[in-house]
Formats: sequence, structure tokens, C-alpha cells
Amino acid sequence: MSAPLTSPVELTPTQAHAAVQRLRGHLEAEIIGQQALIERLLMALLTGGHVLVEGAPGLAKTRAIKTLASGMEADFHRIQFTPDLLPADLTGSDVFRPEDGSFRFQRGPIFHNLLLADEINRAPAKVQSALLEAMGEGQVTVGADSYPLPELFLVMATQNPIEQEGTYPLPEAQLDRFMFHVRVAYPSREAGREILRLVRQEALDEVSAAAAVEPLRQAEVFAARRQVLGLHLSPSVEDYLLELVEASRAPAAYSRELADWVRWGASPRGAIHLERAARAHAWLSTRDFVTPEDVQAVAADVLRHRVLLNYEAQAEGVSSERFVAELLSRVAAP
Ligand SMILES: Nc1ncnc2c1ncn2[C@@H]1O[C@H](COP(=O)(O)OP(=O)(O)O)[C@@H](O)[C@H]1O
Ligand SMILES: [Mg+2]
Repeated sequence: MSAPLTSPVELTPTQAHAAVQRLRGHLEAEIIGQQALIERLLMALLTGGHVLVEGAPGLAKTRAIKTLASGMEADFHRIQFTPDLLPADLTGSDVFRPEDGSFRFQRGPIFHNLLLADEINRAPAKVQSALLEAMGEGQVTVGADSYPLPELFLVMATQNPIEQEGTYPLPEAQLDRFMFHVRVAYPSREAGREILRLVRQEALDEVSAAAAVEPLRQAEVFAARRQVLGLHLSPSVEDYLLELVEASRAPAAYSRELADWVRWGASPRGAIHLERAARAHAWLSTRDFVTPEDVQAVAADVLRHRVLLNYEAQAEGVSSERFVAELLSRVAAP
């Protein structure tokens, strides 16, 4: 998210939309339902963000990121997080070379464009923080040297809501590195039927027709990112999103009850992510300006993991979703 965007190709918004729309069509053909997940992956791609996905096993999380990889010019890698994983297993390490007695850095599996960090909460804090630092800095530091990650670097981390035993919950401060926290739900009966049909069809044909899509080029992604950053965002929409973020920390002006529930709200990084996500949402809707509705459409998934509620809220069964929904209903849109 920090490095400036290099190697731009010139694309008109129409060309860039068409290129991204092709990728979206590919994702929608391969993933039945799960619109929220598909959209958030696209928005992360369009802004340099990362996605934390929570959902039971078997809900197409792996399939979603693999399908994203197959529809674009990007390499993909999956890392299963386990209790015995070490930071160096992720980042790589200096390896001794007996030929000349020197050490040379051997890149770890983090050096890929699209990274699936599966069950991130199964690895201890040191490993999580190695990943989250890399996400924040766009580089990996081993010893005295730093190594840049690929310019296109998107992490999709998964968390399983069940089996909390033996897991290491991600610290709040680090959750903040994710642009989105998406919850995936079970498909409807109709979607379930379609999944059966699709997977049966895949077992019959070696390659599905949709898999043969012309890949989105990285240069096209960077061109689209520049357009997203260039959309018009009026001062009143900017104030609105800043007000939402501030109200997540100090909602007393809106409601005594909300103020009694919250321990911790969103940071300036949260505001940056909210702004970028809203821009990406507007861009995907082929608009050249950002509306309050764009902010509202992404607010729940951008803010929920940045809000920490107290025991009182938990005792009353109030979730961070509910808290964010209450905020949205109380803070007046321009
Ligand atoms: N919405 C869906 N669309 C298409 N296939 C699906 C969907 N949900 C589940 N599947 C299928 O179910 C299986 C499990 O999906 P997978 O991506 O491995 O799940 P997860 O990573 O969430 O545990 C795969 O065969 C996948 O094709
Ligand atoms: Mg999986």
C-alpha cells in the first residue's frame, strides 16, 4: 500500500473497466454466489489492500483466490498456518553456501503476488506479525537486509470461526492491516444445486470454458489503481467518512449506549482503508465520483475488525457488526 505505482500503461476508464469486468465475469462463473467475497477481492486488488475471510470450511475460500490467480497475470501460493510454523518459513532466511563460505538470502513462500494465508490464527504471534508487517511495509526484513515484495501483493487470510481451541487470535492492532474483514455464509439451496452442477461439470471436462479467460495484466491493474485514486471525492463525502471513523472511537455525541460499549475504534489507517474501499466501490460501479452510498456499502467490512467492544457489550450480545450498523444509522450522510 505504500510504494508508489510504477509502470503505468495508459488505459481509458472504459478499457480498464472492461479488463476488470472480464476478471469479474470469470470469478462469477467459477464461484456461485459469494458476491461480497468476489467484490472485496476485486476492491482489494484495485487498492493494494488485503482481505481477511472468516467462514466455515468448504465455502469456496480457497477456490476464490485460486480463481482470481487463474484470471490474471499473477502467481499464487498457499501457506497453511500451523502452530509449529516459524517466521523464516514464511519470509525465507540467510542460507550458508559452503562453496564460498558466504550467506545468501533464500526467498520464502511469501514472495508471490497472491498469497493465501490459510487459518492464520493457527500460527503463533511471531509468524502472524511477520506476515502482517510484510503486508504493511511491502517488504521483508531478515537480519540487516530488506527485500521488497512484488509490487502486486495481495494477501487473503482465512480464519475458521469454529474450533477456537489451540488458536492464537490476531491482535487488534494487527487486524487493522486488513482492508476488509469478510464473513462468508452458507449458500442457498438454489446456489447449492448450482455448485453441485458446476463441480460435476468440472470433473467431466478437464478445463472449464470460463478458465480460458484472457488474463488481466498487472499493468492493467496498476492503471486501474491510478484511476481509483483519481476519482472525485467531495469534501462533504470525505468529512462523512472521517466522521464515521471518529465516531467509532468516540460515539458519545450520537449515543450514550454506543459510547458505553466501545473500548477501541478505528485508526487513521482505518480511514485510509475506508476511503480507498469507497473509491474502488465507485470505480467498479463505473462512476467517476464517490458517493456516501459507496462509503456505506463498504463500511461494515472495513470497520468491523477495527472496533473492539468491552465486556458489557459482549454480555448484552452486541457484536461489532451491530455497533457499526448503529453508527451508520446515526451518523448523518451528506
Ligand atoms: N460458492 C461455490 N462455488 C463453487 N464451488 C464451490 C462453492 N462453495 C463450495 N464449492 C466447492 O466446494 C469445495 C470446497 O471449496 P474450497 O474452496 O476448498 O473451500 P474452503 O477453502 O472455503 O474450505 C470445492 O470443490 C469447491 O469447488
Ligand atoms: Mg480452503
